[in-house]
Amino acid sequence: MPIIAPSLLSANFLQLQKDCDMLNASEADWYHLDVMDGRFVPNISYGPMIIEFIRKATTKVCDVHLMIEEPGHYAEAFKKAGADILTVHYEACPHLHRNIQQIKSLGMKAGVAINPHTSIDVLKDVLKEIDLALIMSVNPGFGGQHFIPNTLNKIRDLRQLIAQQHAEVLIEIDGGVTVENAKDIIDAGADVLVAGNTVFRSADPAATIARLKAIR
Ligand code: DX5
Ligand code: ZN
Repeated sequence: MPIIAPSLLSANFLQLQKDCDMLNASEADWYHLDVMDGRFVPNISYGPMIIEFIRKATTKVCDVHLMIEEPGHYAEAFKKAGADILTVHYEACPHLHRNIQQIKSLGMKAGVAINPHTSIDVLKDVLKEIDLALIMSVNPGFGGQHFIPNTLNKIRDLRQLIAQQHAEVLIEIDGGVTVENAKDIIDAGADVLVAGNTVFRSADPAATIARLKAIR
């Protein structure tokens, strides 16, 4: 059964309480929070202050995806805001190993995200250190984009690498996940599905979460 992580980037921010209540009552396992700095990605979203509010209103696992430069400066702030999992981008971290150690020493699970053009091979030497590998299936920055098909090859390759190393790493897929393509993504070897527009733009978000959860 996949772990379902609805992305609040697509939520209605004037009705966050309502969307948090929906998540709490739904079959969602995690909720995914996209932090954008207008530098690493061409968009700006929200930061620790909003996450702290959301954290208090939700009971699920708080999965924070940092699309920001120099994430090390903010790791502590996100811990204080309530992040359970903190994911940084490989492309934003010249000292990735240090970032991972910092996240773990703060008591959070550590994730590393890679952009669509980045090979999964770059994860080889940190795989034993991390809890989560996030493969971007769209170019980061915006919700509602189309899934890049080559992602399926990357998932299969990463699954193999994880098995070879006997590592315990969840594979999370982020961007363009739909009820239609979710089965192929899971069959390729993904553990966690992030879904923004698919959930929050549907007529019945909780039912859509249940449909994603039921795919195997
Ligand atoms: C994109 C974000 C995603 C986004 C996914 O930069 O990292 O988490 O919210 O949105 P959908 O599911 O609509 O593609
Ligand atoms: Zn994300």
